[in-house]
Amino acid sequence: MSTTAAIHPPADFAAGARISSRAAYDELRRLALADPEAFWSARARAGLHWFTPFETVLNWQPPFAEWFTGGTLNACTNCVDRHLTGSRRNKAAIIWEGENFEQRILTYQELHRRVCKLANVLLGLGYKKGDRAIIYLPMIPEAAVAMLACARLGIIHSVVFAGFSSEALRTRMDDLEAQLVITADAGRRRGKEVPLKKNVDAALEHCPGIRHSIVYRHTGAAVEMREGRDLDWTELMRGSAESCPAEPVPSEHPLYVLYTSGTTGKPKGVVHSTAGYLLQTQSTMEWVFDLREEDVYWCTADIGWVTGHSYIIYGPLAAGATTLMYEGAPDWPEPDRFWRLIEKYRVNLFYTSPTAIRSFIRQGNAYPERHDLSSLRLLGSVGEPINPAAWNWYHAIIGGSRCPIVDTWWQTETGAILLSPVPGAVATKPGSATLPLPGIDADVVNLKGEPVPDGEQGYLILRTPWPSMLRGLYRDPERYQESYWSRYPGRYFTGDAARRDADGYYWVLGRVDDVINVSGHRMSTMEVESVMVRHPAVAEAAAVGRPDELKGQALVVFATIKGGTAPTSALAHELRAWVATEIGSFARPEEVRLVEGLPKTRSGKIMRRLLRELVTTREVKGDTTTIEDYSVLLKLSGEGKDEEELLLGKPAAS
Ligand code: WT7
Repeated sequence: MSTTAAIHPPADFAAGARISSRAAYDELRRLALADPEAFWSARARAGLHWFTPFETVLNWQPPFAEWFTGGTLNACTNCVDRHLTGSRRNKAAIIWEGENFEQRILTYQELHRRVCKLANVLLGLGYKKGDRAIIYLPMIPEAAVAMLACARLGIIHSVVFAGFSSEALRTRMDDLEAQLVITADAGRRRGKEVPLKKNVDAALEHCPGIRHSIVYRHTGAAVEMREGRDLDWTELMRGSAESCPAEPVPSEHPLYVLYTSGTTGKPKGVVHSTAGYLLQTQSTMEWVFDLREEDVYWCTADIGWVTGHSYIIYGPLAAGATTLMYEGAPDWPEPDRFWRLIEKYRVNLFYTSPTAIRSFIRQGNAYPERHDLSSLRLLGSVGEPINPAAWNWYHAIIGGSRCPIVDTWWQTETGAILLSPVPGAVATKPGSATLPLPGIDADVVNLKGEPVPDGEQGYLILRTPWPSMLRGLYRDPERYQESYWSRYPGRYFTGDAARRDADGYYWVLGRVDDVINVSGHRMSTMEVESVMVRHPAVAEAAAVGRPDELKGQALVVFATIKGGTAPTSALAHELRAWVATEIGSFARPEEVRLVEGLPKTRSGKIMRRLLRELVTTREVKGDTTTIEDYSVLLKLSGEGKDEEELLLGKPAAS
């Protein structure tokens, strides 16, 4: 891997870049590592708007960090108000296109007006700093307005991806003890309507703590409105005042909670702060995307995932960018929709996922070739390792061999991009996220926590805290400590395997825990298993990831069924649908295999690693897996050892 030829930043790109040489960049990284507090402190003072300046840069009581204490600020002021005094006032903040080609543009001034109006509505309903709101909206500008209105008042928001089921919505409302939900009648996806309000209604049957649901009429779908509880967004906004002072909050005030999958059946509520989070999302807009004032920037993620929070809303708006938001599917009405959008809005910076890129490759070059993509200056990738074939296609066909590619590694927990090339300064190697960004102290270590030699595989860790790191898991400090800080005390365990080459470049290989990555979406195998065993026919279940050419990994579930039920393919089909209804259709298993028994360790734990090998290396025909399949594998893989031992002894992903 270390022999991979590096691709140097194109000379004309480097010439105009914010950081335009490797020497300048190395100096920045050196400074940041030598004195991280001085580095971040200077950036925070100059880069953010404060009501009260901070006194202490960092208070680090592992694993709990506080950044910029003593300071007060407001995220909405930083993302909106501070752009109103100069020429950005009438700059497009959000350019939105609906799946049906409808178009809306919100300038910073117009965004401010709407956010203030909604904030006044929330105040009028009695909501205040520290309250919790669930946002369950499609990809429409109102999602940004809702997030920013909450932030303006210090209300902690939790966006739930609109593809989640009512059951998933309910568990998040419960865990957060939310009082308010902001939703829409429905969303649009591939010409069909996604019934959001209906899902909210079902969830609210079991969530007595929710006082109101505010409903935005987006598609005009018929909805039931319950008197006193359900309120019409447009009616509420009509009489609402256009100015609303922003609430100064302490630097550490939680901006939002975002649920993500962990290694148990219960999703983790990742808590992000205000100041540190904004500082690092904004800084990475400059370092990684090399944002210029006149750029049109487009991140194709959904606001329901962290990428949407950090790189559609908070990072770009804090940096004063024009951020493009598209409502629908990439292949609607035809597979050229993304290229059409790039041509139409003259997009300069484009950020998407390897899964999307692989599906574009499959659809053929004719679609991008129909469009003028010459406005593009830089391409980004996120969510999973990008395979060199996808990288090369992206570079040649979309980037016209002229655009640098930034392969960005980060996580819901890290808040912002931590490993990525800086495009005017760092040569890239297809498949590598290259170097840690300024102020990031990464390492690759073995089981004992010792650094491994270059070229060897180990676990990716972060040795020191960083401003946008998660501040904890919502009301669960033990799980926070256990999940991230117990394996290597005082150091953050990412859950990823990685290798560092002789040039210091990082190659992130994938998860080493029971988390799989399907199309760039994190999924917990335990969560899927706990849903499976809730089905009346299922006795036991084990979910694993199988390498998939398109999705990175595909979900395969092994299940034993209760006596008296026949292991038919109809049942297997029903169980796939069951998971989709219980979690969301993006979680529908690729395959459900009904088996006679599951392989177990001496202590009775299911040997998932064995099952992973089974789906990876051996073709298994038919609906059932036989004992012979397991026994062959058992011989290969150290029979009887505990899963934990096997998993950590050799990272599963490669
Ligand atoms: C996991 C985090 C970060 C936003 C989207 C996913 C994998 C992410 C890369 C990359 C290799 C990557 C890791 C990580 N991952 N980006 N550029 N190269 N792997 O956020 O759902 O929190 O998942 O995604 O395995 O741990 P997430």
